[in-house]
Amino acid sequence: MAKILITGTSKGIGYDATLLLARAGHEVVATMRNPGACDLAKVAVAAKLPVTVLPLDVDDDASVVEVFEKMGDSIDVLVNNAGIFSINAVEDESLEQFRRVMEANYFGAVRCVKQVLRRCESGARAASST
Ligand SMILES: NC(=O)c1ccc[n+]([C@@H]2O[C@H](COP(=O)([O-])OP(=O)(O)OC[C@H]3O[C@@H](n4cnc5c(N)ncnc54)[C@H](OP(=O)(O)O)[C@@H]3O)[C@@H](O)[C@H]2O)c1
Repeated sequence: MAKILITGTSKGIGYDATLLLARAGHEVVATMRNPGACDLAKVAVAAKLPVTVLPLDVDDDASVVEVFEKMGDSIDVLVNNAGIFSINAVEDESLEQFRRVMEANYFGAVRCVKQVLRRCESGARAASST
């Protein structure tokens, strides 16, 4: 079974994917901006599911580094789910909102992918030096 980190699990697809994957036997690290405001950890404990909830804001470099340091090299799958679904017409959307969307949906995903790749590279270097 895989160890899976999912971003943006406070609601919607991330919330449901956490429970679905944990029920299938995977170990899920469910991350969200404000764990105190979400019942996912309680629901997982009540159902005896292998879910760990950790705080993570994908817009924030330090927050991303901190959560991946806690994970060590043990992540098998990253689900870049956190994001803002914004489908207004260009003329109705502010530049500030476009920036927020790019920060979460694009740079947020890139931040997390870079952390996973750093760990893959250091794992490969360690394996080749032994
Ligand atoms: N549903 C669709 O039809 C659809 C279609 C195309 C793409 N998508 C994309 O699929 C993903 C999930 O969709 P959904 O419908 O489940 O969306 P949703 O219900 O709006 O949930 C989005 C999740 O992303 C989190 N999030 C937003 N910004 C974040 C940040 N900076 N750091 C960490 N978490 C952040 C939200 O957390 P908070 O509670 O803290 O805001 C929430 O948990 C989104 O990326 C969305 O853009 C959805």
